[in-house]
Amino acid sequence: MGGYGRIVAGGASRQPGAGSTPAHRESILLPALDGSSTIGGAGPIGAGIGLRQPHVESVLAQRERSLWFEVHTENYMVAGGPRLAQLRRVREAFPVSFHGVGASLGGPAPPEPRHLSAVKRLVDEFEPVLVSEHAVWSRAGGVWFADLLPLPRTGDALRRLVEGVDRYQGAIGRRILIENPANYLSFVSEMDEPDFLNEVAARTGCGLLLDVNNVYLSARNCGIDPPRYIEALSGDRIEEIHVAGYEADENLGEALLIDTHAAPVSEAVWELLDFTLARLGPRPVLLERDGKLPSFEALMEERRRAGTALARRLPDPGPERAVASGPVPERTVA
Ligand SMILES: [Fe+2]
Repeated sequence: MGGYGRIVAGGASRQPGAGSTPAHRESILLPALDGSSTIGGAGPIGAGIGLRQPHVESVLAQRERSLWFEVHTENYMVAGGPRLAQLRRVREAFPVSFHGVGASLGGPAPPEPRHLSAVKRLVDEFEPVLVSEHAVWSRAGGVWFADLLPLPRTGDALRRLVEGVDRYQGAIGRRILIENPANYLSFVSEMDEPDFLNEVAARTGCGLLLDVNNVYLSARNCGIDPPRYIEALSGDRIEEIHVAGYEADENLGEALLIDTHAAPVSEAVWELLDFTLARLGPRPVLLERDGKLPSFEALMEERRRAGTALARRLPDPGPERAVASGPVPERTVA
């Protein structure tokens, strides 16, 4: 599927920095000299990969300078043991971001205090370059659901999500990014999703994590226009981008696409990433893969495409600076 390239890059009317809080400005993304980007001086951020346990030894053998990894925060809410030990080894070698899936930020009850305390302990120890969660709900009546459920975009849901983000940020002492959901049904809503997310960001000071696969699925399942959706988001708030693969529903086929993260990124989503980077400039891009896990080398190959898309949006580094994009020197990892 083509057509995103016809949209003029940088066509949004919003001014970078408009409505930013001081905390937001501190973490604004800056171009780096090594073909990647940095966030708040935290280190190089180019294209990253979701860290999955079977890949850890392959990850530790990597020497790619701009590589970084994202983990699901809840997977490390343990008192000790091999999983935390592995993450410590990875963190010694690479920047790591924390991506939460269990806070239920917009649910009928605010995020659970013990959950937030566990996130804070991890954030304090690992000092992730980014912390993110989802603009969804997944808990009610003391029951946690397996899915990340979209919110009806009403004034009441907006207030709940703002309170959830405020509590999360207050508890961990950090700004977070919130991610747009994958939609499977069209709600009768009072606000469009970009306006809803922009408003939460404006009221809480949080940033946005734009999952372009989720935008594509929402377009196919519910009929939104992807370029219009992306242009309506506050571009200066978008500090990370996700790409992932989807699968067609077992019963309905292509009429309903499911955000499984169990397939390679589709051509349509790669095109949407190009469109997004053309509009925003370089941002950290993260390749998500959770199911039907291929080898780490196969993911690195897929990641290469994200790196190429990012490199197109960076200034030409010149021959002297280009040297810095090679492998990092040997390092010792415990
Ligand atoms: Fe995502």
